[in-house]
Amino acid sequence: MAGTAGRKWVPEAVPDDPSGQPARRRTDLIVGGSPAMARVFELIAVAARTEIPVLIAGESGTGKELVARAVHYTGPRAARPFLTMNCGAVPETLMEDELFGHARGSYTGAHADKRGVFEEAEGGTLFLDEIADLYPSCQVKLLRVLQEQELRRIGETRTRKVDVRIIAATNKDLEAERLARRFREDLYHRINVLPIVLPPLRERREDVPLLVDQFLRQFNHELGRSIRGITPAAIERLQAHDWPGNVRELENRVKQAMVMAKGDLIDVECVDVPAGPASGDALPTFRKAKEEFVRNYLARCLRHAAGNVAAAARLAGKDRKDFYDLMKKHHVDPAAYRR
Ligand SMILES: Nc1ncnc2c1ncn2[C@@H]1O[C@H](COP(=O)(O)OP(=O)(O)OP(=O)(O)O)[C@@H](O)[C@H]1O
Ligand SMILES: [Mg+2]
Repeated sequence: MAGTAGRKWVPEAVPDDPSGQPARRRTDLIVGGSPAMARVFELIAVAARTEIPVLIAGESGTGKELVARAVHYTGPRAARPFLTMNCGAVPETLMEDELFGHARGSYTGAHADKRGVFEEAEGGTLFLDEIADLYPSCQVKLLRVLQEQELRRIGETRTRKVDVRIIAATNKDLEAERLARRFREDLYHRINVLPIVLPPLRERREDVPLLVDQFLRQFNHELGRSIRGITPAAIERLQAHDWPGNVRELENRVKQAMVMAKGDLIDVECVDVPAGPASGDALPTFRKAKEEFVRNYLARCLRHAAGNVAAAARLAGKDRKDFYDLMKKHHVDPAAYRR
């Protein structure tokens, strides 16, 4: 898989979704050069290969749905449906109906037989988003379906076999929910075989320039603009921000900046995030701060040199070998900066 080496995860051969959605959308690119994201790329590959239950955890906007799609579209079920169910978005009575369907006449208003998402996803993957919000009554029923690999529509006595892979996601601490007895212990263990944790963007600031590059490309295309790049001051401002809304927030800020930009470069005036470290930002230790500085500095040199290590080393006033050693030590991948 292309992504295991580092910066970008791109689905290789991806068929179209039977629902008619083109599977390989531009937005399905997962960008990241940080060690944390390298680990995520590795886990995506394992999950796709093995089909074991995956639980994706991370704050809002960290890319959970993107990872779920990646697992599906690189696995053997890629040609089958990928369906998403938001477990907190539907009232309790409707939820069971949405998941498992019903028989005609099973309640007032049930005019026809209806398949639930489980049956709709047959052969494919059901992405259960915000799983921590699943009602206790549905937790029991979901557990049964996963154990027996069969379900019963509401109002029916017969059971139906289902073959659906489950990928769950949560932005709550599911373990805490389990300990507080709001989430069933048995279901927790069944869905949480391979955890994939997406760290918040503020803990992988070195990914910011890569993400910005990706969004520039994407939105130039979408907005019909031809923004060439971003000034070092603007990128520093973005890297210093804490991003409570994570990648989604960064994506929106970049889009906004592209709309505001007067010329073909985004400068710091177009970037609508506060200057300086955000309030509440805990002071890092000297060692951590230094490491972060070096990583960002290497990234800047490489960006200016379009990924050419010799040129980047010259900009930094270092010899090539020292620059290589620093890149290795700080897990910076020059390929991420090539244009
Ligand atoms: N590593 C990444 N590379 C490129 N784009 C990303 C990355 N991570 C997230 N995004 C983009 O950020 C946006 C949010 O991602 P996604 O919807 O997957 O997050 P989420 O964790 O499911 O958020 P929420 O908890 O709010 O549902 C999407 O537009 C997605 O394409
Ligand atoms: Mg989501």
